[in-house]
Amino acid sequence: MAGLTSSTIGRKYAMALSAMFLLIFLVMHLSVNLLSVFGETAYNNASQFMGYNPLIQFVMQPVLMFAVIFHFVMGFVLEIKNQRARPIGYDKNNGSANSTWSSRNMIISGAVILAFIFLHMYDFWLHEMNYKYVDGLPIEETRFWEDLHGKFADLWRVVLYVISFGLLGLHLAHGFQSSFQSIGARHAKYTPVIRAIGNWYSILIPLGFIFIAIFHYVTQ
Ligand code: HEM
Repeated sequence: MAGLTSSTIGRKYAMALSAMFLLIFLVMHLSVNLLSVFGETAYNNASQFMGYNPLIQFVMQPVLMFAVIFHFVMGFVLEIKNQRARPIGYDKNNGSANSTWSSRNMIISGAVILAFIFLHMYDFWLHEMNYKYVDGLPIEETRFWEDLHGKFADLWRVVLYVISFGLLGLHLAHGFQSSFQSIGARHAKYTPVIRAIGNWYSILIPLGFIFIAIFHYVTQ
């Protein structure tokens, strides 16, 4: 691990691997939360399974937390190193001529997503940890849907979430294909396919989350 993070190439590689892990997490997270739109029982069953399965709770969840923290810390480290390595006058270049907004502002979209994650952990994860491990309350199969639905009663939360999902889309628009480039997956035939999948991914995943938030708000 130390070897992987001690050189710029190693850091980019490690960053890309953590990104890919998070890309998979987002698909799974969206799938489980989409169940809340289709029915209370399906969502409650899935949440209960995820919330009380020891493998998910004590192996997958810590790995996920590590990946999230690692990705953010490494993102900031790479950004600082890039800034320092930039020759004077770089910022006078017309960046938009040869790069997109999302590729030039990954640190900004990343920082907004980080702020969202703090709010999101406070909203859901902390509440869940308190329920199970601090208060030690018994399993109650129907609470998950009610908790989730209730959170989206507040318009301010829905607005903050939707803005964050928009920024998530911009982050993914560059991040998806960039993670493949960083691990050396470059090929005349496959790179355009990866780009196309990345474009669809960065639109559909945030739209899915936006749909969930708005659905619960309008069905209060
Ligand atoms: C409407 C959209 C979303 C809903 C309804 C939602 C719902 C939830 C819920 C209920 C939990 C608690 C799970 C538990 O520990 O029992 C959770 C955890 C979490 N969410 Fe979300 N989420 C949404 C979007 C997102 C997005 C966009 C991200 C990432 C950018 C994200 C990242 C996480 C993380 C890292 C956790 C903690 C790990 C876990 O317990 O699974 N969520 N979310």
